[in-house]
Parts: sequence; C-alpha cells; structure tokens
Amino acid sequence: MDYQNGNYTEDLITSTSISDEEKLPLPYLFRAYDEMPKLEQKALQLAKGKVLDVGCGAGSHSLYLQDQGFTVMAIDISKGAVEVAKQRGVIHTELKDVLDETETFDTILLLMNGTGIFQQLSQIATYLKHLKSLLNANGQILVDSSDIRYMYEEDDEGFWIDANADYYGELDYFLSYKGVDETPIKWLYLDFDTLKKACETAGLKCDLVMEGEHFDYLGQLF
Ligand SMILES: C[S@@+](CC[C@H](N)C(=O)[O-])C[C@H]1O[C@@H](n2cnc3c(N)ncnc32)[C@H](O)[C@@H]1O
Repeated sequence: MDYQNGNYTEDLITSTSISDEEKLPLPYLFRAYDEMPKLEQKALQLAKGKVLDVGCGAGSHSLYLQDQGFTVMAIDISKGAVEVAKQRGVIHTELKDVLDETETFDTILLLMNGTGIFQQLSQIATYLKHLKSLLNANGQILVDSSDIRYMYEEDDEGFWIDANADYYGELDYFLSYKGVDETPIKWLYLDFDTLKKACETAGLKCDLVMEGEHFDYLGQLF
C-alpha cells in the first residue's frame, strides 16, 4: 500500500528457516509483463477463458490479462493486497482463501512460487483436490515452483538434507517491513516430480511446460 500510495522508502525483508535475510523490492510486486520472469510470461501466454488468479498480491498478472480482454477474478487473503489490486484497476477482486472459492474457471493461476500456498506436503492433496473442483471442462491450472535442493548444497557438491526430516521444500518463511515482523508462515517449494506424483494421486495430469534458469519450472495441471 505504501508503494501504491507513493510512499516507497524501503523494501520487504524476507528470510527462511534455511536462508539468510534478503530484500524483496516492493516494485517487484508491481511488475509489468516485460519485467516478469519468462515462466510467468509463458503462463500468461497460455491463459484461456475465464481466469482465477490465486494469491493475486498487487494484481500484476490479473491486470495484464484483463488488458488482453480476459475476464479475471483475483483473490487473496491479504486485505491490503486486494485493496491495492482494486486501486490499480483489477475489476473483479475478492478477499478470499482459495479453499473458500466455489466458482469454476478455465484457467487457474498460482504464480511466484504458487505451491507456497499449499504450505506443507501433507496439505497438497487437499489443495489439489479443491483446485480440480474449480476447473471447467478442459480447464488448466498453471503453477510455478522451484526445486530448492540447491539451497542445501555444500562446497564439495554434497548435500546435507536430513533423510529423516520433513520434505526439504517445506520452509518457515519470515517477513518484516519497517522493523515490524509478520507472523511466520509455512511455505512449500515443490520439485516437479513430487508435484507430478501428487497430481496423479489427485487425478490430475501434470505437464512440465518450461524450466527456468534456476531450478524453477512452470507446470500445467489438467
Ligand atoms: C508470493 S505472493 C504472490 C503474489 C502475486 N501472485 C505475484 O506474483 O506478485 C503470494 C500471495 O498469496 C496470498 N495467499 C496465501 N495463501 C493464500 C490462500 N490460501 N488463498 C489465497 N491467497 C493466498 C498471499 O497473501 C500473497 O499475496
């Protein structure tokens, strides 16, 4: 909201249970199509029909598709995000948890590590089953994530992943802004094979559309 209101003075600070603090520049959340990663551009190119943008944030993807003539519903559980998306011109936007969505769509977008919303491996089935129920015939879910195995890499090219621990993509995610800490959340990074297996169990097909430059990928579920 600060950025939207012209009060941009500092960035968000993020960190995770396995990584140090990093800045998340506020302008990134307001990115135009040309500034988006290739995976996101590809997802937008594949959009068809009526679109649901899950976790729309400031609404950048919704705005682009709306400008292309698509009917888009943008939802987020953040009141501020929904307000900003509205102010930026997203026509249909609602404060809503995706698990409370009941309409059906031709394209469902989950972008900027879209699997994060599932939070934990144990919850994937619940989310996939629900997302599947929101698809029209021939509908698709476009989701991006990363295989973060590289974050555990050691100098000698070995790994220190604890085989007895939970899935290595399950992280605690910390966020702060202007010295105020947000309540930590669980955030799930999924490697493609794990996503594909979970999709098969949920009765969804899962294609690898594109790989990014850093262990990231775009998946198409249908
Ligand atoms: C990493 S941000 C991505 C924002 C936006 N898609 C973008 O690419 O700039 C994830 C967003 O998902 C929202 N979110 C998290 N859990 C959600 C849920 N269960 N239903 C809807 N939105 C959710 C968060 O509030 C946040 O705005």
